[in-house]
Order: sequence, then C-alpha cells, then structure tokens
Amino acid sequence: MEKLAVLGCGVVGSGVVELFEKNKALIQKRCGKKVEMGYILDLRDFPDRPYADKLVKDIQVILNDPDVTVVAECMGGIDPAFDFVKSCLEAGKSVATSNKELVAARGDILLKKAKEHNCNFFFEASVGGAIPIIRPLHKCLAANEFSAIAGILNGTTNFILNKMIKENMDFAAALALAQEKGYADKDPTADVEGFDACRKICILSSLAFGKHVYPESVYTKGIRDVELRDTKICGLLGYAIKLIARVQKLENGKILPAVMPMAVEEDNLLSQVNGVYNAVMVRGDGIGKAMFYGRGAGKFPTASAVLGDMIEELQLDHTIPSQTWENVHDNDFIENFASFSAKYYFRTSSTDIAVLNEVFGQIGEQIICTDDGETVFLTENPLNERELDAAVKALAQKGVQVLAQYPILES
Ligand code: HSE
Repeated sequence: MEKLAVLGCGVVGSGVVELFEKNKALIQKRCGKKVEMGYILDLRDFPDRPYADKLVKDIQVILNDPDVTVVAECMGGIDPAFDFVKSCLEAGKSVATSNKELVAARGDILLKKAKEHNCNFFFEASVGGAIPIIRPLHKCLAANEFSAIAGILNGTTNFILNKMIKENMDFAAALALAQEKGYADKDPTADVEGFDACRKICILSSLAFGKHVYPESVYTKGIRDVELRDTKICGLLGYAIKLIARVQKLENGKILPAVMPMAVEEDNLLSQVNGVYNAVMVRGDGIGKAMFYGRGAGKFPTASAVLGDMIEELQLDHTIPSQTWENVHDNDFIENFASFSAKYYFRTSSTDIAVLNEVFGQIGEQIICTDDGETVFLTENPLNERELDAAVKALAQKGVQVLAQYPILES
C-alpha cells in the first residue's frame, strides 16, 4: 500500500494528518487506491497524540521506505526544509509544500529536480492557504496571456488594517489583538513588513510569467507606518487602505512586481476582503478578470491545500513537466520600481489648494480640508517615482509637508 509522510508536526503538519485521517475513506475513493499515513517527522515527541506511533526523527526512515510516494513538507523556513525536500525528490518521492519561503527562494531548483526524477514538486498551499490559485493559474487559465495579478495575500495584515478601518483601533492595538488570536507571530516582522506577501507574489509571478522572481528583486513596503487617521479619511473618500501584492506586465514586456499599502476603491472587490481572508485578482486576455477568495491561513484550510496536492499526485502517477519556470541569472525581465506609476492619495500639511494645484497641475475633485489645517486629496493624473519625488520636493520648497501618501490600485 502507498504511504504518505509529513515533515513537521506543527499547526499545518498536524492538520494534514488529522484531515487525512478524518476523510481517509473519501480520499481513498477519490484517489482510486488504498493509501495510509506512514510517517510524521518531527524532533519533538507528542506522546498524547493518536498518531504518536507514526512519529520519526530521522528523514532516512522516510527516504528508505519505497512505499512512501508522496511527502508533505510543513516545516517552514529554508534549512533543513530545502535539503529534506531535495532528498525526497532525488529519491523519486513527490513533495507538496506549504512553505512559501522555500518556494520563493528555491522553487526553480526544486521544480527542476522533480522533473529530473520523474516526480512532482507541488505548492498550492504556499499562496492563499485554502484558495485554489496555483492550479488555476497553471491549468484552468493556461490559455491566457496574463497582464496583472493583484491580491491580499497576508491575512494578518488584512486583519490589522480591517480593525483600524472598521473599529478605530490604532496599529499597535490591532497588532496586539492579531497576536492574541494567534494570527501574527510573537515576531510579526514577516507579516507586518510585507515579506510574507512578497514571497507569495514572487511565486504567482514566477508561475504566471515563467521566470523565477526572487524576493530581493521586489519592492516591498509593509504596513507599520499606516496611520489610523489615513484609514479613516481614505474611507470618507470611498477607498480602503490594503496591503496589496501585485504584479503587472508592462508594454515593454517586462514585469513589475511590488508589495505596498495601497488605496483600493470601494467598487473593487479587494476592498471588501475583511479579516484574515485573502483574495487574488487575475487579469488575462481571455478571461478579463477572475477573482479567487477564501481563507488564507490556518490549520485545516492550509492542510486542505496540501492534501489536494498529495491527492493529485496519487491520481497522476507521473511528472507534470509543464508546471515549472526558468531559473534566471539576471533580472532583466523585472522593471525597476522607479517606473511604477499610479494616481495617489496625499495628506499634506497645508490647506492652500492653489499651491497644491500649482505643483500637481490639477488635483482631483475629491478634497478634504481638515480642522487642523491638513488637506487630503487624490491626484488627477498618475505619477511615477521621479514625478512623485519632484512633487514632494516642490511642496517642501513651498513649506508644505507630505504627511502621508498611498498609491491608488488601478481597477
Ligand atoms: N502569516 C501568514 C498570514 C500565514 O497571515 O497570511 C499564511 O502564510
């Protein structure tokens, strides 16, 4: 009988084991074969768990068992996950991972390794938790040329921003609540600074555009500086501030990936994504726009995606040569962020509209002058980074400070 193995018995790994055992009969029927949970690798002991007898501490046990055909990697991080996954693939065992850090940093190497050994490296769970997005991009939407992807790919930051927008909590209080609820880690850096969302847009960009996009090449700005004041005023203007991970294909053929807080118009479905939910909007020449929505994290939502990959492998029994991307030695296909251009939300330290019009040519019609001498407005025209810089400097020369600025997500 074929066996499964799970590397890492943390939240996601234990979820994979428990969901598999709960729905084993259904899963076997859907796979058309008998399969059982063989091993769970973890250095810790879990004597009280019903699957304690399956725990092993040595990866060699899994590698040496020919009945193990599919392995779930739910350890997180690069070391030792990369070596373990590589060894599994070299032994001809397919791997399904939930580890976005691993896929974003080394996906190209592991995909190549899988092809060489006639097995598969799957990573549906690495982006958007329960949301099917990897397989749709690679299969259902494969007839499309993609022009843009934009998403809310981090549940923790969406929860924090949502609390600020809807419940008037400031950033620190909302972060503390996210930690209390177990969404944000004790060290919330990867979520709050946008690194987690960056890894996920790297994976989607690599898959959609066929070349590995490394996190180091992506402009990334988190939400730590978002002020309650702006979430409120933005709301009055009909926009919500969201941490958006996006990539767009430019006319010159290059792609421009970025992660940053953006003002999202309330007509845009992404502005309606609340709490820890995630959503991804994909734009293609055949489909126009398609939207994917669901739980972006959590034990069973993520386990569902990992098991979905494992089930596909059990149904397939062969490698999928097309699910891959090139590894690249230069980043020529990635446009410099200096070319990024958008309309902007600005909050400035002056109510002198004439000065603002002078600097921006013409500011938009939606203007709010606050009681404490600030002006909030949206620009009429898009600005690239150079124009933005020039505008901020020109305002400074006239004694006007830019207190906050957010690019507006194109609809
Ligand atoms: N910390 C991540 C989030 C977990 O909040 O979305 C899933 O990658």
